[in-house]
Amino acid sequence: MANNIYLQQSLVSQLDRQQQAGHKSVILWFTGLSGAGKSTLAHAVEKALFDMGCRTFVFDGDNVRHGLCADLAFSVADRQENIRRIGEMSKLFLEAGVIALTAFISPYQSDRERVRKLVQNDQFIEIYCKASLSICEQRDVKGLYAKARSGEIKDFTGISSPYEPPLKPEIELDTGVESLEHCVNQVLAYLKVRGVITG
Ligand code: ADX
Repeated sequence: MANNIYLQQSLVSQLDRQQQAGHKSVILWFTGLSGAGKSTLAHAVEKALFDMGCRTFVFDGDNVRHGLCADLAFSVADRQENIRRIGEMSKLFLEAGVIALTAFISPYQSDRERVRKLVQNDQFIEIYCKASLSICEQRDVKGLYAKARSGEIKDFTGISSPYEPPLKPEIELDTGVESLEHCVNQVLAYLKVRGVITG
């Protein structure tokens, strides 16, 4: 960090913003293999929350890698930096009173834990999209598993690069088998029980 940098206090607190929004701000951190359904689920949950009047925003791995993280590839260090930036960005959105939904493979336990520690413990909700490698590979929506198997893509998660499943995720969803509607309802039910949203 550079020297001579000072923090400026906002006149509007996170609590003020949450009260105005009518819900708490949290990070919904979707993690899982490529093709597990993280993005689809994150966008569907966002739509449901938005329709309930919540302030929401989705950060999506493929999109963010076209802009904010366009300089990063898939080495351990680059993935770590990718997740660090998204963690910091999500924290800012928390402060803005928003429900931030993130859809990144985020394969390393330590990177996800770093984000969890960045915010208050009850503000980080880890959602494990648990679709097996064989199901993700069968789907192969983007044709990337075939390329990874042939060696055309190096360091591909699940094939030539590791995925460390969450040890104690707040929510675990069988996205390889369960319907999208069922998974969305599971997330919404959890948010109600936790008092993030009402109704
Ligand atoms: S992460 O590991 O840093 O969290 P991120 O979610 O941003 O990954 O990006 C994953 C997406 O990038 C995949 O869904 C896939 O479309 C694409 N991709 C391209 N190369 C790779 C690779 N080597 N490993 C995993 N995903 C890759």
